[in-house]
Amino acid sequence: MSGAARGPAAAAIAALQERERRTFARAHPQAAELMQQSERHWQGGVPFHWMRDWPMPYPVFVRSAVGATLHDVDGYAYDDFCLGDTGAMFGHSPPPVARALARQAAQGLTAMLPGERVAGTGTLLAARFGLPCWQMTQTATDANRSALRLARSVTGRSEVLVFDGCYHGTVDETLVCLVDGQPRARAGQRGPPGDAAAHTRVIDFNDLAALEAALADGRVAAVLCEPALTNMGMVLPQPGFHAALRRLTRRYGTLLVIDETHTLSAGPGGCTRRDGLEPDLFVCGKAIAGGMPCAVYGMSAELRARIEAMPANAEHGHSGLGTTLSANLLALAALEACLAEVMTDATFGHMETQALRLEQGLLELLARRSLPWHVQRIGARVELGFGPAPARNGRESAAAMLPELERTLHLYLLNRGVLLTPFHNMMLLSPQTAPAAVDRLLNHLEAALVELAR
Ligand SMILES: Cc1ncc(COP(=O)(O)O)c(C=O)c1O
Repeated sequence: MSGAARGPAAAAIAALQERERRTFARAHPQAAELMQQSERHWQGGVPFHWMRDWPMPYPVFVRSAVGATLHDVDGYAYDDFCLGDTGAMFGHSPPPVARALARQAAQGLTAMLPGERVAGTGTLLAARFGLPCWQMTQTATDANRSALRLARSVTGRSEVLVFDGCYHGTVDETLVCLVDGQPRARAGQRGPPGDAAAHTRVIDFNDLAALEAALADGRVAAVLCEPALTNMGMVLPQPGFHAALRRLTRRYGTLLVIDETHTLSAGPGGCTRRDGLEPDLFVCGKAIAGGMPCAVYGMSAELRARIEAMPANAEHGHSGLGTTLSANLLALAALEACLAEVMTDATFGHMETQALRLEQGLLELLARRSLPWHVQRIGARVELGFGPAPARNGRESAAAMLPELERTLHLYLLNRGVLLTPFHNMMLLSPQTAPAAVDRLLNHLEAALVELAR
């Protein structure tokens, strides 16, 4: 153990990482060949730059992904706990969604007109999440962007508030963090359109005094938050946090936007249903249509009335909301099938049972190896934290991270057929994840930790 006795020695981590990189390269000649070819016409050799953010020297190339298993071009099968970083949380190609897509694919992909089954899908959304009125976009990023625009237009206020360590997609005004108590644009952004922090207030998650101070001047249009932070480790709300957040936002006339894109793992109605949250606006993307590009945002009856009371003075197509393919026929078909046939209590029951098995297994492993780490869980989403106790905010969570250890463990697991999301220490359990896959993950993780302790 080293570095304040929180993890294995840096030299041991570096040596294991180097060995595992060589192992990967030897075992993946087809991927190496494809990478070389792809580099000719794709920037960074991939069609989307996040695909280079894995701990391998180059990515595996997918041949197929079905259920909880992914197959690559080099002939390996992986137990998938990344699941497209939540997009495939209900398993790859859930059969009801695949069937609905096949049916719809022969009957039109996009029309900029509502599909004939749109009313029923709205009913499903309202029943599932409790908000009566909905809109569709293609990504959660775009749903969040739209929610903030609506909030500003309805309240006539310019400011928004987010929590330090948040991620809500590539929404300019949310790419901010807290530095010495001040909002700052997050580092590494390409070409932000000005000072991203100019109209954004940033405070620590779980800090109710800071929240009240930030809302008190009545200039904040909306608070945008996840029920728990899931993009800077996992930071759960402290008891009473959400009730106070709702009370304070109401007191100061600020709209509350709850982004459930990741916390949908909590159950069929997300944390909103499970914990009785009462957002004015609700956002969900990624898995909501079984992995098809699709997101939704819902609004309360009161907010709908306020929006519909506003004068319709926008030039056609210039509301700043949505994109041409929003609510296309294919996405609508996938959304309906996912809500009606995939996101059932039985589906979530299986996911949660496997998540409990993993959580319990991790806790036992930590105890056996005397590791001062902790485990957190939101339904089917399990997070291993390298701090001794759960963090209360993004800063504490960031301080507990051990990025090189994380990368090395992920690479070690990948070389043994277990896939974890890069840049998260998160494991997601799908309806098809078998207990044996959970046990394989635990066994390989322990083997890595034993090697690192030698
Ligand atoms: C909580 C949350 N909201 C929104 C998004 C944006 O999703 P997308 O990249 O699909 O637009 C993410 C992405 O990770 C997220 O974690």
